[in-house]
Amino acid sequence: MSGSIIIAHRGASGTSPENTMLAFRTALEIGAEWLELDVQLVENELVVFHDAKLERTTNGKGFLADIALSELRQLDAGKGEKIPLLREVLSLARGRAQVNIELKGVGTGLATVELLNELFEQKQLLPSGVLASSLRLEELHNFQQLMPQVRRAPIYESLPKDFMIELRRFDCWSVHMHKSLITGRILEIAKHQGCRVFAWTVNKVAEAEALITLGAAGFFTDYPERFIRKN
Ligand code: G3P
Ligand code: MG
Repeated sequence: MSGSIIIAHRGASGTSPENTMLAFRTALEIGAEWLELDVQLVENELVVFHDAKLERTTNGKGFLADIALSELRQLDAGKGEKIPLLREVLSLARGRAQVNIELKGVGTGLATVELLNELFEQKQLLPSGVLASSLRLEELHNFQQLMPQVRRAPIYESLPKDFMIELRRFDCWSVHMHKSLITGRILEIAKHQGCRVFAWTVNKVAEAEALITLGAAGFFTDYPERFIRKN
């Protein structure tokens, strides 16, 4: 598996509460060189959170869209962890790991551009330290228009007919897809467009080996410790 890109999905989310500082710190301690996280907007602040609702991962109730930022920050996201801001995770990862920012919510493309511009200007982050991805292709398109210097990846749960055209349109660095979609033909098309393929979510070593042998460049995993050997 040497040479493949192993991305800690929502941090080391198999063993720590997902998308929390604990999960990201744990992934870094394991030696992960890539972190993935999901961002959504609350009161124009980018928060690291996956679901539309609060129940599954916090002690809150209802929709993320209905809660004030101050209240959100009081919630327990597991093991006493708080829901982090994107800027906090970027600061933690600085100089240690690259961060795949998944633009999960509406408006996150523009807000992420604004935050990254600020961090680039302050020399707290380099464009090469981040990768933006999204299932919301319009959000990714907005991002691409405003910040073409940062790498991009569309995400697919199912494959569109115009897959090749979309890859070209995004001039993407990588494409992230559900592992069940990956075939030799799809890998060939992506390669032809200069685009690496990353599979999600892969937690079994045998499955990861099969995908890498087939030609995937890497994968998202909840258990980076199963794949990363620290020297
Ligand atoms: O970006 C890969 C993966 O994170 C997409 O699915 O639902 O885990 O955000 P999800
Ligand atoms: Mg995600």
